[in-house]
Formats: sequence, C-alpha cells, structure tokens
Amino acid sequence: MKKVLVLYYSQSGQLRSSVDSFVAPLLECSEVSVDMCEIRPVEPYPYPWPFYTFFDAFPEAVYLDGCEVESIDADGEYDLVILAYTSWFLSPSIPITGFLKSSRAKELLKDRPVVTLIACRDMWVMAQEKMKKLLDECGAKLIDNVVVTDQGRSLYTFVTTPRWLFTGRKDSFWFFPPAGVLQEEIDALKRFGKRACEALKSAEHKKTMFKGLGAVSVDGKLIATEKIATRSFMIWGKLIKKSGLPGSFGRKVTITIYAVFLILLILTIVPLNILIRRLIYPWRKDAIAKEVAYYELPSGALT
Ligand SMILES: Cc1cc2nc3c(=O)[nH]c(=O)nc-3n(C[C@H](O)[C@H](O)[C@H](O)COP(=O)(O)O)c2cc1C
Repeated sequence: MKKVLVLYYSQSGQLRSSVDSFVAPLLECSEVSVDMCEIRPVEPYPYPWPFYTFFDAFPEAVYLDGCEVESIDADGEYDLVILAYTSWFLSPSIPITGFLKSSRAKELLKDRPVVTLIACRDMWVMAQEKMKKLLDECGAKLIDNVVVTDQGRSLYTFVTTPRWLFTGRKDSFWFFPPAGVLQEEIDALKRFGKRACEALKSAEHKKTMFKGLGAVSVDGKLIATEKIATRSFMIWGKLIKKSGLPGSFGRKVTITIYAVFLILLILTIVPLNILIRRLIYPWRKDAIAKEVAYYELPSGALT
C-alpha cells in the first residue's frame, strides 16, 4: 500500500475544493491510502479580512516569519506529499510557512517527493521560488507544481480578488467576472490525481509525473512585475516591522502610508511598466521565453 499525505491551508474553501478535486481519483485508487491534514494556525487569520489586519500580515508573509501552527496528526513514512498553498504577498501563506519552518515538517518531508498545488489570483512565481527554498531546508524533493489562477484578466482581478478577500463576495457585478478560479478549472484538477494514481501503482512517483498535462502556465509579462514588487515589498515590510508590533498604532500609520503608495503605484507605475514592457518586448522576447521555461519547471505548460 502506498501512502499519500495531503497538506493544505485554505480560508474561503477554494483551495480546499481544488485539493478535493485533485485528490478524488487517489481516494478511489486501489493500493493507495490518503491522509488529509489541514494546517491550522494557533491564532486563526480572519476571513473576510479587515483592511488593517490584511496589510498587517504583509511584513511577516514576505519575510517568511511564519506563525505557530497546531500539531499535525500524521504518521509513517509517506511515498508522496501533496502540499497545497495560496500565495500571500508573493510568498507562501503565513500558516504554510509556519508549518514548513517547524521541526514536524522536517520529520514528515525529509527525502519525500513533494507536489505543490497553488490556487491564487495570478501571482505565484516568486512565492514558488520561496517555496523551493523552504522545501530545500526540509530536505524534501519538489517533483511537480500545479497552478490554477483566478478567472478574468489581471485588470479585473485587481478589483474582484480584493473585493472577495475584504467582503467574502465572489459574485460578478457590473462588467466584472466572478472572483476566484473557474469551477471547470478546479474540476479538471482530477487529471493530476489520475496520473498520480497510475504513477504510484507503477512506482514512478519519485520523479516528475505531470508533464504534458498543462500543469502551469507562466505569464511572461508578469515576471518583471513580480520581481519589482518583491523588492518593494522587502523595503516596505522592513519599514512596517520597524514601526511597531502587529496591531500597534505605529504599524497602522505606516500601513496607511503604504496603502496610499500602493494605490498610486497601481494607478501610475504599473500601467507605465506594462506599456514600456510591451514596447521593448521584441528585444526581450528570447530572454523572457527562457525565464518562462525556467519558472514552469518541473511540470511544464505543455498539454
Ligand atoms: C493576505 C493575502 C495576500 C494575498 N496575496 C496574493 C498574491 O500576492 N498573489 C496572488 O496571486 N494572490 C494573492 N492572494 C489571494 C490568495 O492567493 C487566494 O487566492 C485567496 O486567498 C483564496 O484562497 P483560500 O482558498 O485560502 O480562500 C492573497 C490573499 C490573501 C488573504
């Protein structure tokens, strides 16, 4: 019997339904047993998010501080680990980081093949770079990465995702599509569970299993934005941390200044950046294609 451990942290339940769809064929797979483990922060994060609490989480997310998490009820040596996470400020969510930094994670993940599953708005590339480092520190081996992102163009999700996170509302309004990942995309995650079932049965689960299944698709135009944003997040994260403890008045002041800065940035620098990148695209095409191929590893975008 092959053993699979599934770890996840989901607030609204979207990532949890992505996990359920992915795992469904494994639950029906003979010779495979599945342990589902939710990562639970000792102090839960709110959902929907109050404005200041949301931005207050930002420095700890980008600096990978993590948080204390409840102990995981899992035992034995697993043949495969599926680690499902969401991206928070271009970093793995704080509870997932908290777990990965714990000694329990090292016990469970050391020398194990790990598949990451991400469901987020559309910016996950830098988060996955941080994830690679965290998995390395646990001695785990990343063999596959599967990503689903929110429906609609970036311009729309700039509005629909925050509206969802701050109010809990996912419905469509005016000309905006509903928030979150398209249900069909979530349902289609079954194909990975099916392939994993076959691989586990034939003992081919220790190396990349999901080539040719369209596991990820990196948007080349977003890579530069993610890199610039990460640099700015590190600077602002340090400033916010220096201005006080989470929840303090000092932090609220810096967060307010940061929020104004961010809105101005989104309204001015982001469109300007997009325009400049479009203009220089013909000269950067090959370099971008190389970057895209790198960030799509190990599973690749091919269908
Ligand atoms: C604090 C916070 C920060 C987020 N930052 C990002 C981000 O940087 N990139 C992104 O694509 N999505 C971001 N999201 C959206 C999440 O990745 C995810 O899609 C959403 O929270 C729903 O996940 P759930 O299953 O936990 O409810 C963020 C969400 C939260 C709560």
